[in-house]
Amino acid sequence: MIQIAVLGYGTVGSGVVEVIDTNHDSIAQKAGDEINIKYVLDLRDFPGDAIQEKIVHDFDVILNDPEIRIVVEVMGGVEPAYTFSKKALLAGKSVCTSNKELVARHGAELMEIAREREINYLFEASCGGGIPIIRPLNSSLTADQIDEITGILNGTTNYILTKMMQEGLDFEEVLKDAQEKGYAERNPEADVEGYDACRKIAILSSLAYGRQVDFEDIYTEGITKITAEDMKYAKVMNKTIKLLALSKNKDGKYYAMVAPHLLGQSDPLYPVNGVFNAIFLHGNMLGDAMFYGSGAGKLPTASAVAGDVVDAARHLKRSIMAFWSREKLELTDIGSAERRFFIRIQGILEKELEKVQKAFGPVEVLQVPELNQEFGCITRAMTEAEYKTKAADFENLLSMIRVR
Ligand code: NDP
Ligand code: HSE
Repeated sequence: MIQIAVLGYGTVGSGVVEVIDTNHDSIAQKAGDEINIKYVLDLRDFPGDAIQEKIVHDFDVILNDPEIRIVVEVMGGVEPAYTFSKKALLAGKSVCTSNKELVARHGAELMEIAREREINYLFEASCGGGIPIIRPLNSSLTADQIDEITGILNGTTNYILTKMMQEGLDFEEVLKDAQEKGYAERNPEADVEGYDACRKIAILSSLAYGRQVDFEDIYTEGITKITAEDMKYAKVMNKTIKLLALSKNKDGKYYAMVAPHLLGQSDPLYPVNGVFNAIFLHGNMLGDAMFYGSGAGKLPTASAVAGDVVDAARHLKRSIMAFWSREKLELTDIGSAERRFFIRIQGILEKELEKVQKAFGPVEVLQVPELNQEFGCITRAMTEAEYKTKAADFENLLSMIRVR
């Protein structure tokens, strides 16, 4: 029997307990041994819950128990999760986690410790919830040179944007719903300001490109400025608005960003709705591949964490992760990235169009019948830097969304 401990009995932690209870026999068969949850660490007690007899409040109980071979860290946050994970690894216990904030910040170091001790630090659930993406990048795609990753990597914001688009619902109302469903981070600012997607693209990029991509270096915009009016324009264009996290390698120069984009119907990411996530990859040999599935929530996430537990149980004395180097990958400024921009201009079309054309060059004009004090335009393709200069000099600009 393999004894494990779960740190944090919240949305994901209670899900891990449920997955391991529900699929106990098939998990034992696949792991090659029975998996038993011996302890659950949490700050609270859970009177009336069957888990109560396993609850401990002192991490040292877990650390000092030689029977514990695998620790599941699903508390979230950097501390004390970092200290607990590091101590567990140094004590020879494998760690499985869904904590992307910690993986993005300290993943390289924790993987290195695991490798030195021939154990594992696994984090499949850290990106894309229940979607297998870490494992493919770590094994199936290692012979390829990945030159693009573009993903819808945050379930909460995709859920919000989908409801705003399809049902005309209000931002705050949908956020509350996403929180109740257990999709959102403890501090939902991480979701709606794009920080969560930023950490995830940093992890995927580090893994794909083999060097540490610091999330602090990634240009990040969230969805808080997206309005009902933007959605109306998107509908007129037969497009949708998605928060994309992307990184690209162009001739050895890497850049990464997180920002809302307008996507047309032929885009593979267009139909990814609700809490679903998708990750589109391009490799120099592979060509295109896309991974799709439930991007957040208790059981999909717990399924990925429990899958890591099975893998850790199968490899108690062998490190299976191809880890990325702690050497920093320098990202280039996004200024040279080229695309078209959708802009909303305040004023009457007939009066303002000439000024817009003078500032931005030829544009495609869009109008929403009920928005008669403004109009929209799609610019020609230009670099981010060029757009920024032109926009800085233009007075009547209401908003901008990038066009993919
Ligand atoms: P929750 O807030 O629901 O659960 C965290 C649990 O850990 C809570 O029960 C909390 O207790 C407990 N906890 C916090 N600090 C400590 C501590 N110092 N000692 C013991 N227990 C502690 O979060 P989630 O389950 O939603 O998320 C957990 C992690 O998984 C996060 O890193 C999150 O980003 C990630 N994740 C979440 C997904 C989701 O869909 N929810 C999907 C993918 C990843 P208390 O409530 O009393 O503070
Ligand atoms: N808050 C995150 C999301 C959880 O909404 O995607 C999954 O990582």
